[in-house]
Amino acid sequence: MIGGGFVGKFHIRSWVAVRDADILGVVGRPDDNTAEEAVALVRQLGVGQAKVYESITDMVADPAIHALWICAPNFARIEIMEEIADAIEAGKGELVGVACEKPLGRNAAEARRMLELVEKVGLLDGYLENQLFSPAIVRGKDLLWSRGAALTGPPYLARAAEEHSGPHMPWFWEGELQGGGVLNDMMCHSVEVAQFLLTAPGAARDTLTPVKVSAHTSCLKWLQPHYADRLAANSGGKTDYRNRPAEDFARTLVEYRDSDGNERVLEATTSWCFVGAGLRLSMEMLGPEYSLSVNTLDAGPKVFFSREVTGDAGEDIVEKQNAEMGLMPVVSDEEAEYGYVGENRHMVQSFLAGTRPSENFSDGVAVTELLMTAYMSAEQEKTIPFPPPDLATFVPAVAKGEWRP
Ligand SMILES: NC(=O)c1ccc[n+]([C@@H]2O[C@H](COP(=O)([O-])OP(=O)(O)OC[C@H]3O[C@@H](n4cnc5c(N)ncnc54)[C@H](O)[C@@H]3O)[C@@H](O)[C@H]2O)c1
Repeated sequence: MIGGGFVGKFHIRSWVAVRDADILGVVGRPDDNTAEEAVALVRQLGVGQAKVYESITDMVADPAIHALWICAPNFARIEIMEEIADAIEAGKGELVGVACEKPLGRNAAEARRMLELVEKVGLLDGYLENQLFSPAIVRGKDLLWSRGAALTGPPYLARAAEEHSGPHMPWFWEGELQGGGVLNDMMCHSVEVAQFLLTAPGAARDTLTPVKVSAHTSCLKWLQPHYADRLAANSGGKTDYRNRPAEDFARTLVEYRDSDGNERVLEATTSWCFVGAGLRLSMEMLGPEYSLSVNTLDAGPKVFFSREVTGDAGEDIVEKQNAEMGLMPVVSDEEAEYGYVGENRHMVQSFLAGTRPSENFSDGVAVTELLMTAYMSAEQEKTIPFPPPDLATFVPAVAKGEWRP
C-alpha cells in the first residue's frame, strides 16, 4: 500500500478507481484554502485519511508518505523538487517515487533540472501525461498495431488536437509564469500522444528520431479588446493581452525517421479559442490500410435542454463547458476517459513494484525539447532541424513577455 502526498490538488477524484494507495497528505499555498478543500474531498471520497501538512519537507519526513504527486503550477516546479531533494538528502522520510504533472518544466533547462534532481536522490519518477492512458488511445493503438500494422506496415501519420475556450486560472495566461501560451500548456499532450501512437507497442521512444520541427503560433481571439479586457478583469488587472499576449492557437509538425529510415509525421493543433460544447480532444492515426479516429465530444451520450431550462453555468456536463442549453455531449466518466485513472494506477503500481514508470521524467524532457523547438520555428518562421544547437538554454519570447503576433 502506498501513502500518497499531494502538492496542489489536481484530479483527486480519479483516486476512487486507483487501488493500493491512499492520499494521506496535501500541501498548498498558505494564502488560499485549497489544501483544506482537497483534504475534505479526499475524506468525502473515502480515498485516504488525508491531512494538511505545513510544508513539503514535513510531508516528505513523514514515514507514512511513500510517493508525492507534484500538481502545483508550472512556475513552482523547481522550488518544489529542490525542497523534496533537500529533505531526502537530509535523511528524512521513506519516499520512493515522485510523479509530476505536465509540463515537466517551463523550458528545456527546467525539465532537465527536474530529471537531474530525481536522479541525484534516487527517486523513481513518473511524468503525468494522462492522454497516453486514455482507454480509447490504449485500445485503439493496440488494435491498429496488432492487425493493420502487422499485415500492411507501420503507421506514417498521427494527428492530435486539444482545444477549449481557455484556462480557469490567471497564471496559465501569463507567459512568464506558465512558460508560454497554449503551445506549452496543451501541446505537450498532443505531441506526446501522437508520438505514442506512432511508436510500436513496447518499443523504446528512441525507435523514432525527430529530425525537423515546423510550427506556427497566433493570438486569434484573446488580444481582441473585448476579450483582453475580460482577462484583465478575471486577474485583478494583472493579465495584459494588449501588451503581453500569449498564443491562443498553435500548430506543429514534427518529422521523424524510424529505425529503417522511413519518414513518420506528427501533426498537433491546440487552441484556447475553440468554440464548442467544451474541451475537445481529437486524435487520428493513419497507416497504409487502416486508420483510427477519436473525438471525445462524439463518444458518449448527448442531452438536450430547451430554452426553458435556465440553470447556472457549470462543468457538470463536460470539462470547460461553454453552454447549458441545447444539444450537449456528455463525457460519462471524465476521470477514466481522459486517462487520469490509468495514469495514476500505473504510477502507484510502478512505485509499489520499485520500477520506473513507463512515462517518466525523461519523456517529460523529450517532449519539452520538441515544444521549445516548435517555439523557435514559430518565432523564426522556418523549419528547424532537430535538435537545434541552443535548445538547452532557449526561453521562448512569450515566456519573457516579448512575443508579438
Ligand atoms: N493533465 C492535464 O490535463 C492537466 C490539466 C490541468 C492542469 N494540469 C497541470 O496541473 C498543474 C496544476 O494545475 P491546476 O489547474 O490544478 O492549477 P490551480 O491554479 O487550479 O491549482 C494549483 C494548486 O497548487 C497550489 N500551489 C500553488 N503554488 C504552490 C506551491 N508553491 N507549493 C504548494 N502548492 C502550491 C495551490 O494552492 C492550488 O491548490 C499545472 O502544472 C497544470 O499544467 C494538468
